[in-house]
Amino acid sequence: GKYRVVSTKPMPGNRWIDLLIEQDCRVEICTQKKTILSVEDIIALIGDKCDGVIGQLTEDWGETLFSTLSRAGGKAFSNMAVGYNNVDVNAANKYGVAVGNTPVILTETTAELAASLSLSAARRIVEADEFMRAGLYDGWLPNLFVGNLLKGQTVGVIGAGRIGSAYARMMVEGFKMNLIYYDLYQATRLEKFVTAYGQFLKANGEQPVTWKRASSMEEVLREADVISLHPILDKTTYHLVNKDSLAIMKKEAVLVNCSRGPVIDEVALVEHLKQNPMFRVGLDVFEDEPYMKPGLADLKNAVVVPHIASASKWTREGMATLAALNVLGKIKGYPVWSNPNQVEPFLNENAPPPA
Ligand code: GLV
Ligand code: GLV
Repeated sequence: GKYRVVSTKPMPGNRWIDLLIEQDCRVEICTQKKTILSVEDIIALIGDKCDGVIGQLTEDWGETLFSTLSRAGGKAFSNMAVGYNNVDVNAANKYGVAVGNTPVILTETTAELAASLSLSAARRIVEADEFMRAGLYDGWLPNLFVGNLLKGQTVGVIGAGRIGSAYARMMVEGFKMNLIYYDLYQATRLEKFVTAYGQFLKANGEQPVTWKRASSMEEVLREADVISLHPILDKTTYHLVNKDSLAIMKKEAVLVNCSRGPVIDEVALVEHLKQNPMFRVGLDVFEDEPYMKPGLADLKNAVVVPHIASASKWTREGMATLAALNVLGKIKGYPVWSNPNQVEPFLNENAPPPA
C-alpha cells in the first residue's frame, strides 16, 4: 500500500479494512491492551509517516496530535463517533488536517437505547431483575415494583436533532406519549409526524397525542414526565442539568442521558436521587468516564450502562466503515463524507446548510 492509515483501536467487521486495502492503503491497528490511549501512545503510533488516522472518543485530539499528524504527512482524521467534543477542530484546521465523524448511521440504534433506558427506569427493570436473582421473589403482590405508565404522559426532548427526533418518534408512536421539545431549531418533520399521528388516533376514537415546542429548557424540565437529553456537549450545555434544574422537575420524573456525561452535574444528580426515591434515571454516559461519582452505584433509582448507545452490530460496523471512508476520501482527494465543519450544527435535520 502506498498510504499508511492507522486505527487506534480494533473495530468491528472487516469491510472498513477491505475498503482501505483495495484503495492502496496499508492498515495498522493498535493492539495495546490498555483501553484508553494517551497522547504519547498515539504520537508513537503516528510515527514518521502517516496519511490518516481513525480514532476514538476517549482520545484527546488537540494541538499536539494534529501537529504531530501533520508533520507525518497526515491529511485526515476521523472520530469513530458522532460526537466530537474530544476533537479540537480549530487545531485540525490550523494544521490542515480534515476531520470527520460518523453521524446518521447510529441515529436509530442510539435512540433505541434511550428508549430502553426510559422503559427500564420507568418500570424498574434492573431493580426487579436483581430482586429475582437474589431469590427474594416469594409471590405476586399488588405493591411489588410499581412504576410509571408512559401512555398519556409527556416525553420531553432536549436537543431535537437526528437522535432526539428519532427517540421522540419512538416514544410518541410506541407509547402514545405527548411531546414537548426544546431546540434552537424547529423540528418541523417531527412536529408533522406527531400531528399526523394525533389525527390517526383521534380518527380511531382514541385520545390524540400533542406536541409543543418549548421556549426554554426549563419549560421541558418542568412539564415532562420522561426527559431525554440529546444536545451536543459544548460550553453552553455543560451542566445543563444541575441542582437548580433538578429542583424544578417532577418528583416522579424519569431522566435519560445518552449524550455526554458532563451535560449533567452528576454530584447534584446523586444528591437529588438520594432525596427523591421516586425520581429515576437511565444513564449511558458519565461525567468522568469510566468512573461514576460516589454514591451513584448504590442507588436503586438509577439504571447505568457503559456508553453503549451506538452498540448494535450493524451500526458499529457502519461507523467503522464510515470512519474509514472519511479518511480514505480525503487521502484520495474526494470530499470528506462528513466533516464537523460542514455538517449542520446542533444535529438538526432541518437546519439550513451552512453558508
Ligand atoms: C458516541 O458516544 C458517539 O458520539 O458516537
Ligand atoms: C397480573 O398478572 C394480572 O393478571 O393482573
